[in-house]
Amino acid sequence: MAERTHYKDLGLVNTREMFARAVKGGYAVPAYNFNNMEQLQAIITACVETQSPVILQVSSGARKYANQTLLKYLGQGAVEMMKAMAAEKGLREIPIALHLDHGDTFELAQSCVDTGFSSVMIDGSHHPYEENVRLTKQVVEYAHRFDVTVEGELGVLAGIEDDVSAEKSHYTKPEEVEDFVSKTGVDSLAISIGTSHGANKFKPEQCTRNKDGIFIPPPLRFDILREIEKRIPGFPIVLHGSSSVPVEAVRMINENGGALKDSVGIPEEQIREATQSAVCKVNIDSDGRLWMTAAIRKHFREKPADFDPRKYLGPARQALIDMYKHKNENVLGSAGKA
Ligand code: G3H
Ligand code: 13P
Ligand code: ZN
Repeated sequence: MAERTHYKDLGLVNTREMFARAVKGGYAVPAYNFNNMEQLQAIITACVETQSPVILQVSSGARKYANQTLLKYLGQGAVEMMKAMAAEKGLREIPIALHLDHGDTFELAQSCVDTGFSSVMIDGSHHPYEENVRLTKQVVEYAHRFDVTVEGELGVLAGIEDDVSAEKSHYTKPEEVEDFVSKTGVDSLAISIGTSHGANKFKPEQCTRNKDGIFIPPPLRFDILREIEKRIPGFPIVLHGSSSVPVEAVRMINENGGALKDSVGIPEEQIREATQSAVCKVNIDSDGRLWMTAAIRKHFREKPADFDPRKYLGPARQALIDMYKHKNENVLGSAGKA
């Protein structure tokens, strides 16, 4: 068998303590997806500078893209970079978790546990309920042997991603959550209350428009969230699909040769409201993709002769740093909670 790596040896932490503090403190820990070095550098920089705990999130597609062997060293490198940066700036070190996002098989979750991840999601939400329970419990039993925390999911999000797709949203049924949590032993639960993946979270016909013609989506189902919280008080809840799809980023993309149509996200005020409850982990990927693309497109239009990747990836990385700092400080409330 290949050599096993435990996350503690990489300087990472699991999510247990992070979530307990977040639920108590009425804020959410950011879970930012990354696929490459610039995204990782931006996340660490922003979270050290705002003194926020952070969950580095890797989808199965991202793991293949970045290379699963290299990823372990990226996780360790992120911790080392954080320590050096904190020392240099006279700031506290921040807790960092490395998390598998939307794991779909026991084998994938097991492989992540064995290669240094400190937290895994097993997403059995598209399976029938009993199969979701069986698969999630199997992952929990394995992961807990190594003190790796596990996120399960009940309810299906709408939206289409490369490896994550669900045609329709099925809100989480509050009457299932107690049974699911107690039968599986999960450490946190992702729920479906109207968010979805990607940059087109709602169809135009589901939205109204404000005076500037900007789409206003229907509100999240806070009634379902409250009902869930009543049944499992204080239990860590996770919100996927929480990008706000900023109109400025979409405009910048389209003004510089892009062709995004009918983009709409979740207004940040609603995410902020959710974090004041037991929602203690908020997943954001698309907003990073959008700002990165916007900055690169702008750079290419303004400086078409540039061909050194540092010239266009540098401003893209800075745009990400600014966005993550904004999320930590103004949306998730995680700034200063490291
Ligand atoms: O929830 C899905 C994340 O945005 C990851 O997407 O599978 O395209 O890497 P991906
Ligand atoms: P967004 O597409 O809204 O960024 O959601 C990301 C996500 O849920 C990753 O699991
Ligand atoms: Zn997700």
